Amino acid sequence: MEKTFLMVKPDGVQRGLIGEIVKRFEQKGFQLVGSKLVHITKEQAELHYQEHKGKDFYERLVNFITSGPVFAMVWQGDQVIALSRAMIGKTNSLEAAPGTIRGDYAIHTHLNLIHGSDSPQSAEREIGNFFKPDELVDYSKVI
Ligand code: CMP
Repeated sequence: MEKTFLMVKPDGVQRGLIGEIVKRFEQKGFQLVGSKLVHITKEQAELHYQEHKGKDFYERLVNFITSGPVFAMVWQGDQVIALSRAMIGKTNSLEAAPGTIRGDYAIHTHLNLIHGSDSPQSAEREIGNFFKPDELVDYSKVI
């Protein structure tokens, strides 16, 4: 079963949007297999955003993501990586369509509420950065 890493960023936590965001993925039909409210370290943030290192917004991004608690999650389901990114909406706030999370709740690109993995490789790395294997549940034996 495909898994992805989703994270409500500090702006989403502060604005009380965890419940709304979780509800959307539950209603879509995905399963939550792990979650934690955590204030991430600078090292975790740098690993998470390693592909953006050197870009002009990198420092601001690391400072922002470590500025307050985030709600880190692992979800599973068919095509969860592509479908959750479609539900999240485009990174650029001017392109995030109404009906998407960013389109409905975010105004600024740097305060865009939620992160979602963009590939199976990113999902595996990002899940490993935030979760130990025994922090993820296995529904396969649930009756
Ligand atoms: P996300 O897709 O989660 O990961 C990279 C983040 O960098 C992105 O969300 C935005 O929050 C942030 N960001 C800030 N400025 C820019 C920019 N100009 N282009 C892309 N991402 C940006």
